[in-house]
Amino acid sequence: MKSINISTISRSVHVLLAQPAKAAPHQIKLIHHLAAQQQAPIHHQSQQQQQQQQYRQKRLACNTALCSGKCKKSARRQLEAVSGGSPVSHKHTGNVAHAVEHGPEVSRHDLDQILEVSISPDGQLARIPYMWLRDHCRSKRCFNHNTQQKIPDLQLLERDLTPQSVLADDKNLSIKWRDGHETQYSFDWLAEHFYPGQFSKRTKRAMWDKKKINSGPLPAVPFEYHMNSEEGLRQSLQNLVKYGFTMVTEAPPTAEGTRQASERVSPIQESMYGGLWTVSPAMGNNDTAYTHEGLGAHTDNTYLSSPAGIEVFHLLEHDGTGGESLLVDGFNAVDTVRQEDPEAYQTLRDTLIPFEYMATAADGKPPYLLKAYSPIFTEHPGTGELLTFRFNAYDRGTLDTVEPSQLPKFYKAYQHLSQVISRPESEFWYKLSPGTVLLVDNWRVMHGRGAFTGFRLLSGCYLSRDEWVSEARRAGVL
Ligand SMILES: [Fe+2]
Repeated sequence: MKSINISTISRSVHVLLAQPAKAAPHQIKLIHHLAAQQQAPIHHQSQQQQQQQQYRQKRLACNTALCSGKCKKSARRQLEAVSGGSPVSHKHTGNVAHAVEHGPEVSRHDLDQILEVSISPDGQLARIPYMWLRDHCRSKRCFNHNTQQKIPDLQLLERDLTPQSVLADDKNLSIKWRDGHETQYSFDWLAEHFYPGQFSKRTKRAMWDKKKINSGPLPAVPFEYHMNSEEGLRQSLQNLVKYGFTMVTEAPPTAEGTRQASERVSPIQESMYGGLWTVSPAMGNNDTAYTHEGLGAHTDNTYLSSPAGIEVFHLLEHDGTGGESLLVDGFNAVDTVRQEDPEAYQTLRDTLIPFEYMATAADGKPPYLLKAYSPIFTEHPGTGELLTFRFNAYDRGTLDTVEPSQLPKFYKAYQHLSQVISRPESEFWYKLSPGTVLLVDNWRVMHGRGAFTGFRLLSGCYLSRDEWVSEARRAGVL
């Protein structure tokens, strides 16, 4: 409601009422109920228009208090009388059950070329442009239902996109366009897919710190359940979506156990490190990871245009001390910065950071010279929720993206985030052991490790973001 200004409404109502009223069955009347609230002058009302105004006032009354349902029958009957068929159902503010049962409220605004539909569970109206509705027509002429792909419409913008008629029942919205084409959508489909109204798409995440993650059972699924049960796999995927990591316990304490637990989620992703890899200090590779040193919390592959989606860790051997694994929820760290210093949050969101890495190639091949630019985090353009996080103090490149005058602001924000990440209350430490496979969402949760002594052999691999997220969608957890 708040995005509608009164002049627009009055203008729309004036134009819409100027159109000849046709009492076609099921046809929505072109009136917005806010106009009644504003007492816009309406002259020469017909009996039908007077009845509609009475209906709107009844509906407005039930929007101002939780409706007991008493208004429903009289209002519905009156609308049936003026429309000659099924009523246009209305939504009762604050009573979602009613909205679901009786369907959304719909009103059209031809001057603005939008249809208002109350399809979001928080009661906000979705203002859907006619252009979007026609572009997302799912008729056989516009959409291939065998391949589930769109059929391009190169004339979209040349068409008259004002509907000839708009019809609705409790479940479906039908539009007849002026070129004779007809489109039908279910309200459920619109609620799920209309871009600014993707309220149902909000991910069920639980951001965590040390205290929260230790307050309940750790996200873990036994190997047999993970491997042989659809519900077991679903639980693993749900843990990844909710917490950004999960463990597979009681796995074979071998690289083969790593492979099986990983491939149950998605195929292992090949990278410059190969597929399934092992890490130990004896390998002498050109990376801090291959030493005895501790590693601060970071995400991997920040220097790639699309970092790996999941990183898998499985400790196979360790005959010394130390070497505990560290996890930090990057989304929680960013949210903490947002609460403590909103300007720092905006600075980090809006600043591209260079990340780079010279990866040693095998077999005498030239090294990889890898570089990527990205903000430390991004937000979903529709819901505003955090979408990606990449942070690696080791692989941060030469800063060539910030104007000198803006450097103090950037460094202040970057240091704030770095300090939040390294606070003891942010850190979850866990001692891995052979048979426990750890899967970490590399687009959200950072990993690290404590310094250690002795021989320590770690097995692991990467899984692609698109592959595991597809599995999560298929399992119904995303
Ligand atoms: Fe790493």
